Amino acid sequence: MIDVKNLNKQQAIIELEKIAKEIEKSDIAYYQNDAPYLSDAQYDALKKRNEEIEKYFPELIRNDSPSKRVGAPLQSGFGKVKHQFPMLSLADVFSIEEVKDFIIGVKRFLNIQSDIAFLCEPKIDGLSFTARYENGEFMQGATRGDGHEGEDITANLKTIAQLPQKIIDAPKILEIRGEVYMSKKDFFALNAKNEQEGKKTFANPRNAAAGSLRQLDPEITRTRKLSLFAYTWGEVSERVWTSQEDFFSHLQNWGFPINPNNKLCRNLDEIESFFVNLMESRSSLTYDIDGVVYKVNDINLQERLGFLTRTPRWAVAHKFPAEQALTKINNIRIQVGRTGALTPVADLEPVNVGGVVVSHATLHNEDEIKRKDIRIGDTVIIQRAGDVIPQIVKVLTEKRPSASKEFIFPNICPECGAHAIREEDEAVRRCTGGLTCPAQAIERLKHFVSRDAFDIEGLGSKIIETFYTEGLITNPVDIFTLEQRNNSWGDDLFSQKQSLKLEMRDGWGKKSTDNLFASINKRRHISLPRFIYALGIRQVGTATSRLIAQNFENWSAFENEMSNGFTEKLMSIDGIGESMAHDIVEFFKEKHNIETIHKLLLEVNVEKFNQQILINTPFSGKTLVFTGTLEHLTRSEAKAKALAAGAKVSGSVSKNTDYVILGSAAGSKAKTAADLGICTLNENEFLSMLQTIKESSSS
Ligand code: IVH
Repeated sequence: MIDVKNLNKQQAIIELEKIAKEIEKSDIAYYQNDAPYLSDAQYDALKKRNEEIEKYFPELIRNDSPSKRVGAPLQSGFGKVKHQFPMLSLADVFSIEEVKDFIIGVKRFLNIQSDIAFLCEPKIDGLSFTARYENGEFMQGATRGDGHEGEDITANLKTIAQLPQKIIDAPKILEIRGEVYMSKKDFFALNAKNEQEGKKTFANPRNAAAGSLRQLDPEITRTRKLSLFAYTWGEVSERVWTSQEDFFSHLQNWGFPINPNNKLCRNLDEIESFFVNLMESRSSLTYDIDGVVYKVNDINLQERLGFLTRTPRWAVAHKFPAEQALTKINNIRIQVGRTGALTPVADLEPVNVGGVVVSHATLHNEDEIKRKDIRIGDTVIIQRAGDVIPQIVKVLTEKRPSASKEFIFPNICPECGAHAIREEDEAVRRCTGGLTCPAQAIERLKHFVSRDAFDIEGLGSKIIETFYTEGLITNPVDIFTLEQRNNSWGDDLFSQKQSLKLEMRDGWGKKSTDNLFASINKRRHISLPRFIYALGIRQVGTATSRLIAQNFENWSAFENEMSNGFTEKLMSIDGIGESMAHDIVEFFKEKHNIETIHKLLLEVNVEKFNQQILINTPFSGKTLVFTGTLEHLTRSEAKAKALAAGAKVSGSVSKNTDYVILGSAAGSKAKTAADLGICTLNENEFLSMLQTIKESSSS
């Protein structure tokens, strides 16, 4: 090999190109195919040579140089797919009374007095998927992910024979959505086989389906027996069906499996008997279901009803009663959450509840323990409903051992020793230690990297706990400076543990360290809703974060108003009330929070919120206020239409208002609008402006 000092420019160009290609090839073999062909030493030597040449010829550094590459390529192997139409969830109800309330709400929204027909479908307990067809050909499949962005599982879906690869007489663009599941029989067979081979078994068919579909190697998916049912749609170039029932007959013609139990019910009685019958036949079905989904049958009505942030207004999931089991409480301990809340948890004698082994249950708070008189050693009935944390339904006091003692709720945080205080009007007792309490700090970090927040793969709970204890990551900023600090730590095995390179620690190696840095670096660009959610502000969940992002559009606008305690705009957002606004402002008052955020902003780039919905409508980005009684629309319907047209709806008129829509008997808001010179519309003007959107988007 020519000494770098003796290389001429031409030779350097050729060699740099060769190394870049070789490293890329080796990375793919190593990270994506799990089939490395270079030894670590060969790989490192190539990188070193690259560095040396670049040092001599800095002007020749390539854009794809291995020295520029941020960590390793995607380890997850799944590409991300943005859903043009979000994959939403369903609101849950648990009793026929709640179903009644749901139907009343639907009718009120639509101002319809007569019965409305609902398509009733079994709620399949699997994993939702979306499959995109272009000109009748299956092009792309994805998981739901966070509802806005999922994982690309095209290759895996292709292995499921029930999914048509080609469909005829279909709209040019057609996204079909449904549920992938594993039948009970196939689940038991898979577990028996895995057990025999000493491999991991799955807790239930749903986990087995998810584990099988999310395999990096589609050939493994092919060996698993997966099935599916189609039940809804996403993006469609031309909707050729007029009802849910009609949609199902199209699905059938295109060759999608649809559930044979789906049934149109015309009134509450029919709905109730559908539910009861299905619950009775539940155990004889060949697959797991966990309830019934009711969908307004008429698509025009569905469209009028529209969506809330995460769920449609036109559908609801009626869940089967939770599964129950009998067990014993071995211990009661206190968990400290990210907001400092002390939550009592019962450690149970492990018990199988409807296919899942349960060993803990939440006891909620101290009042709940008192109310149910729960003691260590008690025999209890526990229940588990879906993904909800198991709960204690009842104590069997007749089985109570004589030596049982009441649980004394601590008024000192068991994690940091700070006082734990319960405010007068609160049910929870909170640790006052703030970030000096390790439990709070750790839980905040876990929240920060969690799936709906920064979604950093490879920074799981255990790693966060270890890194925190060792002082490697004590706040969110540390996550993004970890690689840089790691690079400057000494190789000296006898130096302090904190300065020991990660790749030299027990359980770590070059590959896992590179993977970790790659997944951290991948998140240096983050959407505004995720960023807001990641901060872990009390009461601010994913839906609220999205609302805030939609209304403020960029981080600095939000920060400016909050830091100055300006809550007018925040509170005008439909869905954000006084108590939430209070918690948000309190968060910004904490100097430590602001300092951390500012340091974080040096490491990550928060994207401006992209208002996706109907950018070119007369209402997109505008703030509307409704006042008075509308004649043709209910207030909720009018609001929903405005939101769907890209507007923001506010409850009060201010200088930030763009339009005030006046119904009859409009009061003081009409006057304020006039005083501020804000454009007013009557209901017909509002409707005809909406009409122009419909016409232009359908042409
Ligand atoms: S419709 C916009 N129909 O339940 C509504 N969902 O809890 C889209 N599910 O995410 C969903 N069976 O994974 C619908 N017949 C069915 C379903 C069903 C199961 C799942 C689906 C959804 C979840 C909501």
